[in-house]
Amino acid sequence: MADPLVTVAELLAPAFAAVGGSGAEPVVRPSDRADAQANGALAIAKRLGQNPREVAETVLAAARPALLGVCSSVDIAGPGFLNLTFTNEFLAGQLTVAAADEHLGVRPARRVEHVVIDYSHPNVAKEMHVGHLRTTVIGDSLVRMLEFLGHRVTKENHIGDWGTPFGMLIEHMLDLGETTAASELSVGDLAGFYQGARAKFDADDVFKDRARQRVVELQRGDPETLRLWRILVAESTRYFNEVYHKLGVLLTDDDLAPESMYNPMLPVVVERLREAGLVQESDGAQVVFPPGYTNRDGEPLPLIVQNSVGGYNYATTDLACVVDRVERLNVDRMVYVVGAPQAQHLAMVFAVAEMAGWLAPPREAVHVAFGNVLGADRKMLKSRSGESLKLGELLDEAVERAGAAIAEKNPDLSGPERAAVARAIGIGAVKYADLSTDRIKDYVFDWDRMLAFDGNTAPYLQYAHARLCSIFRRAGIDRRGIAAGGSPFVVCEVQERNLALRLLAFDTAVWDTVDRYSPHRLCTYLFDLAQDFTAFYEYCPVLKADDDATRQSRLALCGITVRVLEKGLDLLGIIAPERM
Ligand code: ARG
Repeated sequence: MADPLVTVAELLAPAFAAVGGSGAEPVVRPSDRADAQANGALAIAKRLGQNPREVAETVLAAARPALLGVCSSVDIAGPGFLNLTFTNEFLAGQLTVAAADEHLGVRPARRVEHVVIDYSHPNVAKEMHVGHLRTTVIGDSLVRMLEFLGHRVTKENHIGDWGTPFGMLIEHMLDLGETTAASELSVGDLAGFYQGARAKFDADDVFKDRARQRVVELQRGDPETLRLWRILVAESTRYFNEVYHKLGVLLTDDDLAPESMYNPMLPVVVERLREAGLVQESDGAQVVFPPGYTNRDGEPLPLIVQNSVGGYNYATTDLACVVDRVERLNVDRMVYVVGAPQAQHLAMVFAVAEMAGWLAPPREAVHVAFGNVLGADRKMLKSRSGESLKLGELLDEAVERAGAAIAEKNPDLSGPERAAVARAIGIGAVKYADLSTDRIKDYVFDWDRMLAFDGNTAPYLQYAHARLCSIFRRAGIDRRGIAAGGSPFVVCEVQERNLALRLLAFDTAVWDTVDRYSPHRLCTYLFDLAQDFTAFYEYCPVLKADDDATRQSRLALCGITVRVLEKGLDLLGIIAPERM
């Protein structure tokens, strides 16, 4: 494997097992003292009641032959740590392996899984808010990464298109007239539409009655009501697609798995829960009590699957989702990219699904939770006039601001190229600002910071990429050609070694990111890579290198760096322009 840390762990494993017995294995990490540090001797020593340094020496003696040519030195430090320094030849060889690999050294998944990712899921006839930006951007990046590792991914956009608000929304549409209503929705004035309906519902009892009657008609499947409902859904979807297009995410109409789709299954779900003996009556409602969930007073918390008047709710739909994903799609893993406030809801849904036997290991359900987007005042992000923010307008503003920044930085770019670059940078900046903070934390939306050309931002990474492209342009060499070619790497300067080690760690960076569903880890890696490249480029002349072999090797280093940057940004859903 290309990552030297992974390779050396494999080379050390037999020696650790020989000394410590089965189960004893090295943990290899990057280190400041050397290229890497292998831990594990301490654990063996504790178990065998021996001196850790002596154990480390025995392990090292057993591993020596395997490390020949791989490590130039191995020191024992502290309580039996092995500090490893790789030979330059070994690093050069690993680079050759990574450069020849379409996946740049990233290991494919050992067991290919079918993964469903539930993300974006805005609500029909309601404005998409920044929370939807988060789930859409994080979910999309996870789709790309899981696919890159070789998994089969099904995207599901579980839009909210069903439930009691549709009574008032349909009646409001009738009041406005179908065409007026449709055009209001399709241009994305969803907030205005929804609030208009809500205001009448709250103020006007006659309207309220109409709305209630309409819900009954909708649930009964009245054809005229369904026709009106479909207009609401179609116009909203058209608006969502426009936002997706601006964002450059993978979602299409084929990925829609709306709440209404599960409607016919809801009575079946409750029936099956009943047959399994799980349903109880509580305050007139049909509920399931998953063990371990209590309210503030310590009383057991129910998951309501049918209310007292026979209606089904959000939890019932989510249980139907689980059944559908398991029994129809036969997925191995379900990933829910949903805001942190729904943690308990989802945990209870998963618990009930386990009780019913629908969800059992190795099949798993994961809640990928995220925090809020805040304004400068550290409150929920609002528009300047204080209204809820329209996602489409926010994205337009990003592109506009990026356009202004480029006009200043590179006046030579013009016409369609400038427009494309502005789009890549503006949208990239918004996505990267979101992805580069630990998803579970809140973050402050800050135009100046996300669009800055230095610091941990998309423009900084895109700029590093464009600089690399320009090296090849100036040399008159096709960077894609050199990338796959067998240019022999020479790794000797410290900046070359650091860049090499970083490039070879791409594998670990992607795996760590996917294992924790945490795109910010990949962001941190790419930022470190761009910095290592900058240090290399400052110290090591490429086109003006002293001799041809060095020039070839450095060009090849640039070639693999540009590929890792481009692929890394692509995994985040960010475009890397050739020039900017
Ligand atoms: N539409 C919901 C919302 O905007 C999110 C749906 C999440 N997905 C799920 N299967 N519950 O809050």
